[in-house]
Amino acid sequence: MEHVLMVCLGNICRSPLAEGILRKKFNTLGIKGEVDSAGTGAYHAGERPDVRSQEIANRHGIDISRQRARKFIREDFDRFDAIYAMDRSNYSDIISLARNKQDMEKVHLILNTVYPGENRQIPDPYYGGRDGFLNVYNMLDAACDVIANDILRRKSGSTS
Ligand code: 4NP
Repeated sequence: MEHVLMVCLGNICRSPLAEGILRKKFNTLGIKGEVDSAGTGAYHAGERPDVRSQEIANRHGIDISRQRARKFIREDFDRFDAIYAMDRSNYSDIISLARNKQDMEKVHLILNTVYPGENRQIPDPYYGGRDGFLNVYNMLDAACDVIANDILRRKSGSTS
């Protein structure tokens, strides 16, 4: 069972979308797992995803309307196997809460799954237009493909 956490700043734009996309891929591929998301900031705690994230998700057959924003907490290091940060600021905020090397090793920049070692970022689309959300969706879809397929590969490797 895989436990994956997606993290951005507000947990209303990027990470809720990442959560919905990866959950759908888990379902499609028959991967048993938990997918959740959180924000390094608490400003939007309790809110549903930004309507623009809901719209772009809907257009791809994904319903994220029932997700609610929450703040990342240190205990998330115990609950999750992998923690994906959307940008370098999220990454350093998460790392600053890590208690040890094991915690730190769970944290990754999500686009390093597609572009290893390049430390590319998912731009914050909050203050931009709807095209920004489509751009974010496409980047997250590519990253979630890699994440899901890596899990599948590891699973088949461990049972054969
Ligand atoms: P997110 O986008 O981190 O992708 O959820 C943001 C949403 C809200 C704010 C910043 C980023 N804000 O400052 O309110």
